[in-house]
Amino acid sequence: MASSNVSASSLFSVSGLVAVVTGGGTGIGFMITKALAANGARRVYIIGRRQDKLEEAANAIDPNVVSPLQGDVTDLESLLEISQTVESSIGYVNLVVANAGTMGPRPLKPPPGSTTLPSLAEYREHALKAPMQDFTQTCAVNTTAVHYTALAFLNLLDEGNKKQNMGADWRSQIIATGSIGGFSRLSGASFAYNSSKAAVTHMMKMMSTAFVPYGIRCNVLAPGVFPSDITNGIFTGQGDARGEIKRFPREMIPAGRAGTEEDIAGAILWMVGRAGSYLNGSVVVVDGGRLGTLISTY
Ligand SMILES: NC(=O)c1ccc[n+]([C@@H]2O[C@H](COP(=O)([O-])OP(=O)(O)OC[C@H]3O[C@@H](n4cnc5c(N)ncnc54)[C@H](OP(=O)(O)O)[C@@H]3O)[C@@H](O)[C@H]2O)c1
Repeated sequence: MASSNVSASSLFSVSGLVAVVTGGGTGIGFMITKALAANGARRVYIIGRRQDKLEEAANAIDPNVVSPLQGDVTDLESLLEISQTVESSIGYVNLVVANAGTMGPRPLKPPPGSTTLPSLAEYREHALKAPMQDFTQTCAVNTTAVHYTALAFLNLLDEGNKKQNMGADWRSQIIATGSIGGFSRLSGASFAYNSSKAAVTHMMKMMSTAFVPYGIRCNVLAPGVFPSDITNGIFTGQGDARGEIKRFPREMIPAGRAGTEEDIAGAILWMVGRAGSYLNGSVVVVDGGRLGTLISTY
């Protein structure tokens, strides 16, 4: 049968797309960038503070498509400078993925293999050792910076809509990488991280409503456990997290494994291609069923 409007190659194509991916040099941002570049994106600008990581990523994927732009998403001037550079070089964007993120201080837990809880005094002493600024910094990267990243690119997302290069009914989109942490009440998890991810999820829903008059959509990708610098602690004792699929007990992750780049690629191509063009204000959970095993709020 000839290709049709419902063929996978049509529904999941990102041909000609211009995107910005913060934190695109490593981890999940790298997986997103790789998926977009491998499926026809015209240009993907990747943002991060470490120029060497960005260049390594661009060279590993395709330096003709992936362009490194050094910057700090918690610094408004830096964000505006980046959007100015993108404006001068290409003039529009179709997609912004606000993916940069960071972990936060963690509370004291029993050591691995033990069920003996720390005393209240030990718990308190440990928690108070983390400077308040560390908590605030997690919120700055994971929540505040997502808002300002979106604001910095609104004009270029609008230009993307005027161009209609993704099709007449396709609307420019902002995707935030949230986390299942934003829904989980798991004891021992970072209060700063999980609450910053809950906040960004709600903020994106609010933004999706606020930007309706301007034709800009907002959605959230909420991953479960994927190998990256952030999750290295979770993979401790299981060898190197990269290069092979890590197995987990099904009581922890019903899929029996960590997420892979194919899992991120599948989700992002669905969200970004014509297949996902009806999404607005949505949260896409990609976690192998992990949230169902946790005390969670949905
Ligand atoms: N891995 C998981 O299992 C998992 C699960 C759920 C959600 N997530 C989310 O996925 C996103 C990506 O994390 P990851 O797991 O892929 O870890 P990662 O490899 O550590 O990625 C974090 C990225 O954010 C960038 N970044 C951090 N602070 C920045 C800043 N101030 N300005 C610009 N860039 C900054 C980092 O680059 P520089 O350090 O060079 O700036 C890095 O490329 C995060 O939002 C994370 O919360 C991850």
